[in-house]
Formats: sequence, C-alpha cells, structure tokens
Amino acid sequence: MTEHFVRTSTALMSPPLVPEIRLHLAGEVVPLWRKTEVELEREGVPPPYWAFAWAGGLALARYILDRPMRLGSVLDFGSGSGLVAIAAAKAGASKVLAADIDRFAAAAIALNAEANGVEVEITTDDLIGRDGGWDTILVGDMCYERPLAERLVAWLEVRARAGAAIYLGDPGRSYFPQSGIEKLATYSVPTSRELEDREIRETSVYRYTG
Ligand SMILES: C[S@@+](CC[C@H](N)C(=O)[O-])C[C@H]1O[C@@H](n2cnc3c(N)ncnc32)[C@H](O)[C@@H]1O
Repeated sequence: MTEHFVRTSTALMSPPLVPEIRLHLAGEVVPLWRKTEVELEREGVPPPYWAFAWAGGLALARYILDRPMRLGSVLDFGSGSGLVAIAAAKAGASKVLAADIDRFAAAAIALNAEANGVEVEITTDDLIGRDGGWDTILVGDMCYERPLAERLVAWLEVRARAGAAIYLGDPGRSYFPQSGIEKLATYSVPTSRELEDREIRETSVYRYTG
C-alpha cells in the first residue's frame, strides 16, 4: 500500500542541483499534501516530506558528491526521499543507513535507491539516543521544529564526541544551531514558491564541531 501510494503520487525526476540522482517526487505541492490529508490523516500519517527534495538535503547531497572524502559507514538521519543517502552511496560510503520514522518515506527511499542502482539500508526507528557506530552522520534540513531540533542537536553532540563526522545542510531554518558549527559551502538552491515561499534558497553545508 505504501509503495503503491508513492508510485501513484509521484514521477521519477531529477531534483535541482543534483541532476545525477533521480527520485520519485511530487510535481506539485498542494495536491499531494491534500491527498495525504484526505486519504491518510485518519491513520495518523504525517505530511509527505518524502515527496520533495528539501533545500538542506539538496545542498548536502551536492557537497558530498563534489568533495571526495572518506565517508565510511553513513547514517542519513531524517532521510525523506533518500536523496542524501543515495548521494552518500554514490560518493563511496562503505554502507549507508537511511532513517526516517515515516513508513511512506521508507517506501520512497527503497524505490529511489533502486532507481539509482545503489544499496541503502532503511529503518523507521527513531535513532536519536542510539549508537550505531556510524563514521559519518548526514542531516539534511531537520531543524524545522523546535522539539525535534533540540533532541537532535543534543544527540549529535554525543555522537561528535564519540568521533563521528557530522555534516548538516540547512537553509536557515528557525531551530538550526547557532554555535558548534563550521560553515563549509553555500549554494543557491532552486525551490518552489509553494514549498518555501521563494524561488531560491541560500543553503549552507556545515560541519558540526560541538
Ligand atoms: C524536511 S524533511 C527532510 C528530508 C531530507 N533529509 C531532505 O533534505 O530532503 C524531514 C524528514 O525527517 C523525518 N523525521 C522527522 N523526525 C524524525 C526522527 N525522529 N527520526 C527520523 N526521521 C525523522 C520526517 O519524516 C521527514 O521525512
């Protein structure tokens, strides 16, 4: 049912900034958002974040595809469409785990990994607080809600101290940390007025230093 919903709500296309990756994405924002509300709200299904490539994830994917680095084992936290996980797999990660608590995102990630010919493990567990021994943790556009951002940053602090390399992509969301970060690169990310209320979002990639 989840896979069917993803397939019938999206088309396979390349997002802006990352033409080498193809994803099942919604062409228009409002119809799918409404469809999710109407068809799935009773089951407590969250909005279809997985059907869009968010500015933070796009910048982060571009960054890791362009900069050869030793990623080792990677966690893509809050994977959505799987964009960043797929970029990590293409950039040579030894293994990639995509984590998203939405089961529709899990279905989208599986379809998208297959469409790009890469292997990505998928979990719908909330991994905040866990230690998976990841060498690299990638976080695309996750600081849009205060409680989530606070839990996430506290956990990233612990993981950074344990030696994980942590990279975040963020277009200036309200709850993005203002300290413990080093800016690495900035991109002008094309987006849509429906999603972001503007056509371009200046979006940066940061390393979390703690
Ligand atoms: C704004 S989207 C970002 C998706 C992707 N990283 C990107 O940049 O395109 C946020 C995603 O985080 C997921 N999410 C929210 N809380 C989460 C949690 N505790 N663990 C894992 N995923 C979570 C949502 O389901 C959603 O797919």
